[in-house]
Amino acid sequence: LALSGVTQARDLFKQSDVEAALNAAYDNYKGLQEGKNADYIPALAKVDSKIYGIVLVTADGKVYTKGDVTTEVSIQSISKVFTMAKVIEESGADSIFNNQGVDATGQAFNSIVAIEQNKGAEMNAMVNPGAITATSMVKGETYDEIWGKISGFYNDFAGRQLTVLSDVYQSEAESNQRNQAIGRLMYAYGKIKSNPDRATDIYTRQCSVGVNAKDLAIMAGTLANGGKNPLTGKQVVKTENVPEILAVMATAGLYDDSGKWLYRTGLPAKSGVGGGIMAVSPGKFGIAVISPPLDSAGNSVRAQKAIADISNALGGNPL
Ligand code: DON
Repeated sequence: LALSGVTQARDLFKQSDVEAALNAAYDNYKGLQEGKNADYIPALAKVDSKIYGIVLVTADGKVYTKGDVTTEVSIQSISKVFTMAKVIEESGADSIFNNQGVDATGQAFNSIVAIEQNKGAEMNAMVNPGAITATSMVKGETYDEIWGKISGFYNDFAGRQLTVLSDVYQSEAESNQRNQAIGRLMYAYGKIKSNPDRATDIYTRQCSVGVNAKDLAIMAGTLANGGKNPLTGKQVVKTENVPEILAVMATAGLYDDSGKWLYRTGLPAKSGVGGGIMAVSPGKFGIAVISPPLDSAGNSVRAQKAIADISNALGGNPL
């Protein structure tokens, strides 16, 4: 080897270390009986609470799996990261900074009081008002054109064609009057500049995209790898835009519990009420866990514990 002059790149992690960390977290929390499925969207109450899968994708493209990594749940709020990333790609990092802002609201993810307190400003794109506004900022003339861009972008992150779980979409579209109100209020405050009902409906559709734990981990791994999908090799977002994306996740990715999460792990992360959480250790790995039972802030109980343990075991905290 020395003669050939080729140096073999070292793996980022030892295989046995990663496997041991995943196995321990899986076994430690498999029997945990805390939390419950989201039920404010009727279809989510019917999802199997026992689904539990863990996937870690290293920045150099190794995939480690444990448990159920094939069953799909709806991506829900984790979609907010990718739609915001699309807006930043198209319109620059200042676009969201200047329009809906990047600060945390200190309120629940669907708070209307938070909008009123700040007249629609300071609505981080990880909470519903800022997220519906981000969806409205994706460029395009028609619903189909905008949706095609959003879904194509998600596919590039995952490295495969994802589909909408139509039962979840129908269920949420029939019960999302609160988000419709949020969209209209953000329009009234001049943050949404196109049809707010269309933005809310596209947002509802993006939340209904089906993902398994492996998809989410590859999506997180793409952010860990400077915006380049570590499995397909496609540069999905510009490397220069990744720090801003991760900063918004760090600020409000787990809503009102984002401070607690950052304190324990240091990882930019995003949860969804479908039961998924993805987290990013920059330059090291993306990790995702799916387990539907949630705590009172709307974050998966098992996913928080498992990701924290695994990341801490592997030295994932970047702070
Ligand atoms: O808009 C909603 O309420 C859902 N589609 C998404 C909310 C969500 O995932 C919050 N997550 N923890």
